[in-house]
Amino acid sequence: MRITKKKVAIVGCGLVGSTTAFSLITQGICDEVMLIDANEERAYGEMLDLNNCIEYLNRNVIVKTGKYMDCGDMDIVVIAAGAPPKQGQSRLDTLEASAKICKSIVNPIMSSGFDGIFLVVSNPVDMISHYVYKLSGLPKNQVIGSGTAIDSARLQNFIGQITKIDPRNIYAFCMGEHGDSQMVPWSTVTVGGKPFFDVLQDNKEQFGDIDLEGLVHKTTQEGWEILNRKGTTYYGIATACAGIIKAILNDENKIIPVSTLLEGEYGEKDVYAGVPTVLNRLGAADVLEIHMTPGELTRFKESTKIIREYTDKIIKSDSQLSAK
Ligand code: 2OP
Repeated sequence: MRITKKKVAIVGCGLVGSTTAFSLITQGICDEVMLIDANEERAYGEMLDLNNCIEYLNRNVIVKTGKYMDCGDMDIVVIAAGAPPKQGQSRLDTLEASAKICKSIVNPIMSSGFDGIFLVVSNPVDMISHYVYKLSGLPKNQVIGSGTAIDSARLQNFIGQITKIDPRNIYAFCMGEHGDSQMVPWSTVTVGGKPFFDVLQDNKEQFGDIDLEGLVHKTTQEGWEILNRKGTTYYGIATACAGIIKAILNDENKIIPVSTLLEGEYGEKDVYAGVPTVLNRLGAADVLEIHMTPGELTRFKESTKIIREYTDKIIKSDSQLSAK
């Protein structure tokens, strides 16, 4: 009988990376977590602290530190290292700095013989995910970005607050860029299986004045609402990453709006964007192509246009890629 261990490496032990590690061990999602950081002392400190949890967890887990060369037998490598935006910057403003950091990570990891799945969290996540896909040479299903997974969770939360329904009974996807241009295909949003538009129609006196555009804006700004108060976000994004990792390691065929390479879906090719994606042990196994209205599809394409524009900035200027 062959028992294989589920192993996850996390590159970048800042608040997002370390909270992702904490989520993984408290939820018992994997057997081993390896922490990697350019600041080895930081990684070592996080490892020591996380190991102090084990007595009170549901199961034993190995938490260790490592280097890029140790990633050869990892199932998933989370890239949570990047350049966080400064006050007044957008996620797009960190593109060049994050790309440089990611390149310094991906190349040595690929030299380790890694053939697992990259989960990219570094912003701007859609562009960086595409860059990691190109640098790694791995099949597209093995390079995933956290995408609009966190945005969709935020939107479901807001709709849950309005309707007083458990957000987990609400299906609402943000799609496109994990950023200002993301959109919501409202025609596909359901509350407990009932179309959201029908909920609004049937409850005019309660919900008649809902501003859908305002809700999209509130969702898009939520990351900044948090960052401006506590310096950065980490609980939401880390828990979203843990959910993505769980879907992969447990071969769940769970649909999560991650950032994946489109190859014709929605009429889009060669662009990473947040779309409802089937996640299982293969990674991003399939894209669930929902039927949007023409207006929604136009909004989606406006977002992918922005993603494409910024992605080109890093891919077209990279000598390693142009040499390929
Ligand atoms: C967020 O929106 C970190 O971009 C991530 O929380």
